[in-house]
Amino acid sequence: MQQSSVHGMWSSRLTFILAAAGSAVGLGNIWRFPYLTSDNGGGAFVLVYLACILLCGLPVLIAEILIGRHGRHSPVNTFESIAKETGSSRAWSGIGWMGMLAGVLILSFYSVVAGWTLHYTWLYVQEVFGGEGITDAGATFNALLGNAGELTFWHAIFMVMTLVVVGLGVEKGLERAVKFLMPALLVMLLVLVGYGATTGHLGEAAAFLFTPDFSKIDGGVFLSAMGQAFFSLSLGMCTMMTYGAYLPRNISIPRVSVSVALTDTGVALLAGLAIFPIVIQYLGTPTGGGPGLIFASLPAAFAQMGAIFGLIFFALLAIAAWTSSISLLEPATAFLVERTPFSRKVCAAGVAVLTWIVGLASVLSLNHWSEVRIAGFAIMDFIELLANDFMLPLGGLLTAIFAGWVLSHRIVREEFEDVPDIVFKGWTVLVRYISPILVGVVLVRGVMDKLG
Ligand code: PFF
Repeated sequence: MQQSSVHGMWSSRLTFILAAAGSAVGLGNIWRFPYLTSDNGGGAFVLVYLACILLCGLPVLIAEILIGRHGRHSPVNTFESIAKETGSSRAWSGIGWMGMLAGVLILSFYSVVAGWTLHYTWLYVQEVFGGEGITDAGATFNALLGNAGELTFWHAIFMVMTLVVVGLGVEKGLERAVKFLMPALLVMLLVLVGYGATTGHLGEAAAFLFTPDFSKIDGGVFLSAMGQAFFSLSLGMCTMMTYGAYLPRNISIPRVSVSVALTDTGVALLAGLAIFPIVIQYLGTPTGGGPGLIFASLPAAFAQMGAIFGLIFFALLAIAAWTSSISLLEPATAFLVERTPFSRKVCAAGVAVLTWIVGLASVLSLNHWSEVRIAGFAIMDFIELLANDFMLPLGGLLTAIFAGWVLSHRIVREEFEDVPDIVFKGWTVLVRYISPILVGVVLVRGVMDKLG
């Protein structure tokens, strides 16, 4: 049992929670969650989402952190060192390989979308976004998507921001960044919820989010909710496993996991409470916003509210994306640091450049290559689908099976030292039976739906 990692260690329980919550809270919470809720009937989606977090998200989150802390390395090497210790098959390190690949794929398009948030923030800083109406905001968004040069530029800036933090390492980079950025994010979000309250539509927004219409729950809602739960908690691609490798031994894994899941879910709901009152006030109905909800519709509302709100909102989105993207770059960087003679900075730069190049395919799929289809999908949609709907659930499923069935009882007990028996037993049942079955069903249905 190793006490520390060569990459450094989180200096306290709080910094781990900030970093892991920073990974979890991202575009998924503030961009994806509100539009998925809006597209899938409001409260019904939220309810199913909460069930997915509780029954699958939380147990798999605990599993990832536990495996990471026991192995103390990047995911591939963690699985290999556990194999050496316990005699488990080395093939499980495949989860780590797939995780790194998923990380590169997700970061490749994540950085493009994060680039939009930087572009919008910059427009608000310059006060270019003024009093346009809805059609102009939509046109501005479409013009951005059509401009490959502009997209590539912001994609590059965002990748450099990510690479600088990861290159500086766990204590000097990741930890310093999240300590400053996460509180800033919370304050900005609360300002927006506060504004939402003054519109007089907070109650309606809450009703939209929290009154489930059970007739809306179908297989499709379940699929989107499960995919979103995994994406939002950064699960299935060994990110949390990598962060777990830097977690000191005396910290309770279930307790920090609950804090991270609560923060992540809380921020998604708060984002809903910030966005929907504004949507209702200025744009009418909260349903059916689609991915353009944030970039094409909200700026029209900000034009009437005052540009300062647009600035706060898009800066908030950029910060949330930044603390997530560093966690997407870290696993492959840590792996290269362990396996090559190069410095952390060089390793981080190598992965970032590769990911940036892969991201160019997403950039071009929005304009010059918009006609190109892979299996019927535009390139960016295909990459997102492959990673989110296939690799993340598969990674999560295999992680749950590994933690529940392969990892020895002794190791799990060691990692759960001070955990009450009931928590241990509850987690075991969830991670052995409930999570794999539910995730398995989602995975199979998802693949059938998408290919069928
Ligand atoms: N959880 C992030 C979000 O909600 O935006 C996205 C993400 C980060 C997914 C890291 C996966 C990951 F490993």
